Amino acid sequence: MRRPLLAGNWKMHTTVLDAYLLVAEIGKCSAGLKDRDVLLAPPYIALHAVSSVLHDSDIIVASQNVCWEENGAFTGEISPTMVKAVGGTAAIIGHSERRQIFHEDDEMINKRLRGALKFGLMPILCIGETLEEREGENTFAILEGQLRKGLAGASSEDMGRTVIAYEPVWAIGTGKTATKEQAQEVHAFIRKLLAEIFEKDIADSVRILYGGSVKPDNVDELMAQPDIDGALVGGAALDAESFCRIINFT
Ligand code: PGA
Repeated sequence: MRRPLLAGNWKMHTTVLDAYLLVAEIGKCSAGLKDRDVLLAPPYIALHAVSSVLHDSDIIVASQNVCWEENGAFTGEISPTMVKAVGGTAAIIGHSERRQIFHEDDEMINKRLRGALKFGLMPILCIGETLEEREGENTFAILEGQLRKGLAGASSEDMGRTVIAYEPVWAIGTGKTATKEQAQEVHAFIRKLLAEIFEKDIADSVRILYGGSVKPDNVDELMAQPDIDGALVGGAALDAESFCRIINFT
């Protein structure tokens, strides 16, 4: 049985003060949810503030990216040990904005994933096709490449704490969600691929999140799909009421 995971990615939003206010609201509406995990990924500068508010809560705190080294001359980066030192236990890796705007390639994303694993963080590896790739009927080939290259070198044991997020680029921040059928089709494909790369038991236990315009009014039908184990939420995670509705999906 896979435990649902509802993740909020705040992207480059919230000052530290905004983050304090938002996490306080989310903390209230997630208290008492025993059958699911909730995760928040604030901007780096607010990681400490958010985890200090959550010190006696089960909400998972994640960074939005992470370097593969523990320290060194990597201007602008944050290391896994720095994330852990402020109470973070997870990291989003390979988000399409990192791939598209900052030109991170599969090789770099794989280094980040292995770095996160090495230092004990739970990586959330994001994969997803662009509209052009979907229209050209290349969706499955693109996803297979991103998944295989992103997970290169990860062991079966590593997969015990690795999460995959399917985020079609054309659905991110556009208000255009994949239909539940489109999302389920891709999630089932990813799970089949995981069974090929690792083994069936591993594939059956890995959580696969859907991301791309998840909102209060579509979360229930997405979560009802057999291979959708959670959501990675952007825009709707910045509004406490919307995110609270999402994490309380039925
Ligand atoms: P969105 O973002 O919910 O605003 O579409 C999702 C994401 O980028 O993770």
